[in-house]
Amino acid sequence: MTSATRQEQLAAIFKSATVIPVLTIERVEDAVPLARALVERGYRVFLASRNESELRQRAETIERDFNTSIGWSRADLRNAVECRALVATAEAFLGRIDVLINNAGVGWYKPFMDWSDGEILELLALNLAAPMLLAHAVLPGMLARGRGYIVNVASDLARRPLANMAPYVGSKFGLLGFGTSLHREVRDRGVRLTTVMPGVIDSAFNGALEGTKDPRWALPPSALATRIVDLLALPYNVVIDELTIHPAGGDY
Ligand SMILES: NC(=O)c1ccc[n+]([C@@H]2O[C@H](COP(=O)([O-])OP(=O)(O)OC[C@H]3O[C@@H](n4cnc5c(N)ncnc54)[C@H](OP(=O)(O)O)[C@@H]3O)[C@@H](O)[C@H]2O)c1
Repeated sequence: MTSATRQEQLAAIFKSATVIPVLTIERVEDAVPLARALVERGYRVFLASRNESELRQRAETIERDFNTSIGWSRADLRNAVECRALVATAEAFLGRIDVLINNAGVGWYKPFMDWSDGEILELLALNLAAPMLLAHAVLPGMLARGRGYIVNVASDLARRPLANMAPYVGSKFGLLGFGTSLHREVRDRGVRLTTVMPGVIDSAFNGALEGTKDPRWALPPSALATRIVDLLALPYNVVIDELTIHPAGGDY
């Protein structure tokens, strides 16, 4: 198949996609900006995190606001079986998964010797293994259809060492390495991948109170959400491999 024919085929495939199904991994309250931005742009959304009552309550709010149906499912992504079960449930609801947004992550700010074995393993399971397992589960469908997009939310700490967050930084360096390497395997088969590297976000990360940080040095989640949705709107033959985004006044 000549590359011209392949280009025409990819263009046709993306033109045909009226409603693009998206599986996004995060708490609904965090996802509101992202789910809202996705639904507003015509994406069908399936959400996942650990808190079932919160997911149900918030999903109903979005459904009412947008007169649409949002899929959701409780999943603890530190567990490999739950990662695969989540993809099967999302595929059953959405019909197929064209976009996977890996956003879930944890981290603690403390000297390395104060980290327990359990904390190190839990963090690596969620921040690094879960995105790999979810990509492994959604890729067969994406590759078979010749189209797909994976967005991994790493951190600007994927390229910047920081004391007192060593395991977290290690997981984000790892996520960047995994994503950019995987992309080299799948990019000529219609699958794109972007690693998003935000600076400080005004979220509930590490037990913080969302919406309380000084906007000069903390990103509002909606700013990140909109940039992620913009990535998906790029022409099929364009990809931003790495997106670093900072609060304008941030120290980095
Ligand atoms: N906050 C920052 O300054 C910052 C900066 C750069 C990058 N990041 C990255 O941005 C991403 C989002 O973090 P955030 O700032 O929005 O923090 P957050 O408010 O704490 O959100 C973390 C999300 O991960 C979900 N989660 C945690 N453990 C989970 C598990 N075991 N299974 C499934 N879902 C789980 C949480 O939902 P449940 O608790 O309901 O499960 C929540 O939706 C993370 O990957 C983080 O590393 C954050």
